[in-house]
Amino acid sequence: MQYPTIIVTGGAGFIGSNFILDWLEQKRGRVINVDVLSYAGNLENLKSVKDDPNYIFIRSDIGDSKIIEGIFSIYKPSAVINFAAESHVDRSIASPKSFIDTNIVGTFNLLECSKIYWNMLSEEDKNKFRFVHISTDEVYGSLSLNDPAFTEETKYAPNSPYSASKAASDHLVRSYYNTYGLPVLTTNCSNNYGSYQFPEKLIPLIIHNALSLKPLPIYGKGDQIRDWLYVKDHCSIRTVLDSGKIGEVYNIGGNNEMKNIDVVKLICSILDEIKPRQDGNTYESLITFVKDRPGHDKRYAIDATKIAKELNWFPTETFDTGIRKTIQWYLDNQKWILNVSNGSYKDWIKTHYS
Ligand code: NAD
Ligand code: DAU
Repeated sequence: MQYPTIIVTGGAGFIGSNFILDWLEQKRGRVINVDVLSYAGNLENLKSVKDDPNYIFIRSDIGDSKIIEGIFSIYKPSAVINFAAESHVDRSIASPKSFIDTNIVGTFNLLECSKIYWNMLSEEDKNKFRFVHISTDEVYGSLSLNDPAFTEETKYAPNSPYSASKAASDHLVRSYYNTYGLPVLTTNCSNNYGSYQFPEKLIPLIIHNALSLKPLPIYGKGDQIRDWLYVKDHCSIRTVLDSGKIGEVYNIGGNNEMKNIDVVKLICSILDEIKPRQDGNTYESLITFVKDRPGHDKRYAIDATKIAKELNWFPTETFDTGIRKTIQWYLDNQKWILNVSNGSYKDWIKTHYS
């Protein structure tokens, strides 16, 4: 489907930038990328489209009502896709306030501005408008080994300041549908991996440290389980915008549960094969078990039956093929990693891992 103009928030981050690149490649319409450029936002991800007439970047906080209202009235979008967030669990444990500011207050402001704008549209444009909120499986809390995977009916039980702030934003989104009729949709997705992911998250951190021959930090015993989805498969949630039912929630996952330790060992063995160490040692010998994350969720798993049945959405990449593409991308883009590993990144690594 074509859209004259959509707003993507957080489009300079990992998933948002992959989404915009994909959207423009598919020639779906004009994108206004609204991003405050926090430590996690990086316009280099989008340098290939910076001169595309269908791409506009505006640096703004989603919590700034004056600027956001202005963007709505100038660009008249037919949809908003809200990726903007503070997204790293460990940072939310170290300093939660920015998670409250962006994930809760920022989302509230975006909803308010959307509601005011939407109320002024013609009936026809009102019917076409959509607000898609990108959330996470972490709002459902932690599973034990034998529990069934999270469905859209699973009770919310967030355990970290990050997941609690995302849960709060999901509730606000829901309330704007039930109270004001704003046409919202929410997606709750599992762990993503792929190109342009900031090297504070497990997979890029391990690849980056391995290539620099630094320790590979595993929290606790490394027996926690995540359900990994290749980021380009997440981008095809365009289908939620095109055909999702207003007011509904869709779970998205990769059908690919793995223990952290197995993910790290697999990355090491692929690196041994495609970029063997010059000293003859294996990358696995760099694995170092470190202090566990407080309140560390044991297992996440997504039951994506609803989106498969109703919207015909399926992940296309297996972990084996996706992780190889991802490792190759980081090998081919060492300059990108060097550019993001700036002073503030080094400070985070030093404080968090020492
Ligand atoms: P990210 O941290 O890589 O990017 C977040 C982006 O939001 C950055 O560009 C940042 O500058 C921007 N941002 C932060 N605060 C902002 C503000 N106040 N106003 C405007 N922009 C702001 O995050 P990501 O991994 O790409 O995640 C994107 C979304 O997807 C988040 O909402 C996250 O909760 C959700 N999600 C992520 C994953 C995952 O595995 N990464 C999985 C499920 C859901
Ligand atoms: O499940 C979806 C969520 O996935 C998203 O909502 C979050 O935005 C995203 O950051 C991610 O959260 P996780 O906490 O699962 O991802 P992270 O990459 O931080 O950690 C993955 C697992 O690896 C987790 O069990 C913690 C562990 N870990 C992480 C780091 C950074 C380590 O063992 N060592 C590390 O150094």
